[in-house]
Amino acid sequence: MPKVLSINGTLLFPPARKTIVAAAGLIRRGGLVAFPTETVYGLGADATAGRAVARIFEAKGRPPGKPLIVHVADPGQVRQVTASLPGEALELMHRFWPGPLSLVLPRSAELPPEVSAGLSTVAVRMPAHPVALGLIRAAGVPLAAPSANRSGRLSPTEARHVLEELAGRIEAVLDGGPCTVGVESTVLDLSGARPLILRSGAITRAQLEKALGTEIGCAVKGAGGALSVAPGLHCHRSFLRTPLILVTGPRKRRRALLGALTAGYRRRGFRVGVLPAPPGGRRLAGALFASLRRLDRGALDLILAEGFSPRGVGETVLHRLRQAAVRIIKA
Ligand code: TXA
Ligand code: MG
Repeated sequence: MPKVLSINGTLLFPPARKTIVAAAGLIRRGGLVAFPTETVYGLGADATAGRAVARIFEAKGRPPGKPLIVHVADPGQVRQVTASLPGEALELMHRFWPGPLSLVLPRSAELPPEVSAGLSTVAVRMPAHPVALGLIRAAGVPLAAPSANRSGRLSPTEARHVLEELAGRIEAVLDGGPCTVGVESTVLDLSGARPLILRSGAITRAQLEKALGTEIGCAVKGAGGALSVAPGLHCHRSFLRTPLILVTGPRKRRRALLGALTAGYRRRGFRVGVLPAPPGGRRLAGALFASLRRLDRGALDLILAEGFSPRGVGETVLHRLRQAAVRIIKA
């Protein structure tokens, strides 16, 4: 067994065959194990054990009305937790799995009600991460897993973020390094008459429309700041401790305003942190949220964030910044 640290009683497992098997044993005994996925770290429990799932809500301080996503290791496992699979689901699973797309489908009667907070549907996804897939396979059961943060906080993209919030409340964390995508999965409801995006995320609406060849309704406006209808998301507060002001507008003007605001606040004695626009590329979201978390943990009075022209997943990232902002100033 590789060296395993214990932090407040929570084990920190390096990723290896033996530690994954040990973590799977904890899951089978009703334990909670945080694990890496390509999006963010998840807090996993045996989805077939109501008592284990209930412990997730306790550990996170999660409101009881907010359902969890069930993680599977192969598309076949979806049949264990759902009552039916529409053709659209099969098509999207084929196209986007493993990957950051969660599908809301009619739930199986066998699934404990805690998983989907009493709803008649269940959200499922197959993560694109070898440690996550290894853990689900070794456990031999699907894993119910929300993001591994305390309720209302930013989703963790590194094992140490998980420990900062949940050490002493969960059995173990499997450390898989930083998550590459950094923004949560897109939640698509396929249980109604028409597909509906309940949470915008790493897979864009355009990608889904292209795959299905139809228009897809959106319960969340990409960048407009409208509220989501995904249960538990409708009353959002900021996931940050530190107030954040977002500066938008054309690049040159917003840079100038950002500089002026920073200097102005600092002159008045405020401790100001600046979050510049991300350089782009695939790691955009992960890197941006990691910097934001660092700033939020520092002893600052204010974070000034620079807006950017969103492309692809950048739209979701900007949407999250807008949601978190106490003020949005257009340059
Ligand atoms: O990328 C992700 O999705 C990460 C990783 C760990 O997989 N998980 C995640 O889980 O972000 P969580 O619990 O933080 O967010 C799940 C979202 C919530 O907004 C919840 O309301 C929605 O999915 N959801 C889950 N089950 C649902 C259902 N049956 N109907 C409607 N919305 C559902
Ligand atoms: Mg979450």
